[in-house]
Amino acid sequence: MRPFEFKTEIIMSTITPDFVPGLQGVVAAKTRLSSVDGQRGELIIAGFPLEEIAPNATFEEMVYLLWNGALPNATQLADFCQRLAAYRTLPAFTIDLLRTAAEQRVPTMDALRMGVSTISLRTPDEPDDPQRDALAIVARFPTIIATYWRLLNGQEPVAPRANLSHATNYLYMLNGGEPSAEQTRGLETYLNTVVDHGLNASTFTARVIISTQSDMVSAVVGAVGALKGPLHGGAPGPALDMVFEIGEESRAEPYLRAKLERRERLMGFGHRVYKVRDPRAEVLSRAAEKMFEADGDMKLYRLVKHVEQTAVALLAEYKPGRNLQTNVEFYTALLLHGLGLPTELFTPTFAASRAAGWIAHAFEQQEAGRIIRPESVYIGEHDRRWLPVEQRG
Ligand code: ACO
Repeated sequence: MRPFEFKTEIIMSTITPDFVPGLQGVVAAKTRLSSVDGQRGELIIAGFPLEEIAPNATFEEMVYLLWNGALPNATQLADFCQRLAAYRTLPAFTIDLLRTAAEQRVPTMDALRMGVSTISLRTPDEPDDPQRDALAIVARFPTIIATYWRLLNGQEPVAPRANLSHATNYLYMLNGGEPSAEQTRGLETYLNTVVDHGLNASTFTARVIISTQSDMVSAVVGAVGALKGPLHGGAPGPALDMVFEIGEESRAEPYLRAKLERRERLMGFGHRVYKVRDPRAEVLSRAAEKMFEADGDMKLYRLVKHVEQTAVALLAEYKPGRNLQTNVEFYTALLLHGLGLPTELFTPTFAASRAAGWIAHAFEQQEAGRIIRPESVYIGEHDRRWLPVEQRG
């Protein structure tokens, strides 16, 4: 054993009793925004059970609720919708940047991060205040995503319309035509379902940044960076790929069994926190059912249901006692695919919703008024001595 390894071991065993890898189980914030109970499969958003609020609220109502602590009355809602919609249009400098990014075929999450940064560049009529930034961020996420996606695919951007709801306008800018009422409802339910989820990695990132008295745009840009990683931004794409590879109900069992025999993971199943069915999967599965029944590929919907039932049964057989259930990613894939979104836009669309949650947490953190500054344990060497460069081996 080399000397420094010996020292490291001594230090680890003597002064690291409080080190918690990944901060698992560490409580780092008090929040009124959401509560996640993984054992009971319960998600509460600002006092409402998820299944109560997600299929009923518009996204604007949800954002208002998170930022103000109560649902708006009719006058407040109309005023909020108007103020939000007023920020949808991208300034020319943002479109120019996205055009350059599209020429270089930058991945969508990177283009989104760069586009969001430009919200710090104010046009002459925009005030310099955090409320303006909060509105501009939520209003412009869909415009940035839709503009970039169209440029990337050789199409000219579609300008936003202030007379459409937030969700309707997003689909309108992506496709160039107005969606059906069922499609808008499907997207709103999705956006409401993923808007907040406790102290996840990107939300924590936003809180850390704002806790230094940094600004809202910086907090959200940092959070986008955290969300981009595959361990957080999730795997709805692979879950959908798996369903397409299966192709037919009769192939589900042999396909999934073969995967489990090879000790591979089934995408869209299992969760670190939820040990029963993820409540978001339940809400999204109902939303997808309504949307597909109205105007969708029912064969695909039935295949997805069959794959889910088969996967849960096989996971119980191969991993008894693990309680591996359907997670949010599985039905996210079906719902967003049903809305005509390509897999490249799944994570950016998740971000378009979660941005409202990040901002709500940032407001809360500002109220807490305390910098987040944990400790680390030094496990490096001690007592090194300086050697001039010519004497080093
Ligand atoms: N398919 C097959 N086996 C699984 C799966 C799965 N989807 N998930 C867990 N397992 C097994 C593991 O192999 C392990 O088995 P073992 O003890 O016999 O080796 C056991 O269940 C426990 O696995 P862990 O990784 O310790 O469980 P953890 O709770 O940490 O994992 C995770 C959570 C990472 C989500 C996991 O379930 C997984 O990889 N799922 C597939 C990927 C996926 O759907 N990701 C999106 C998650 S949703 C979200 O993050 C928003």
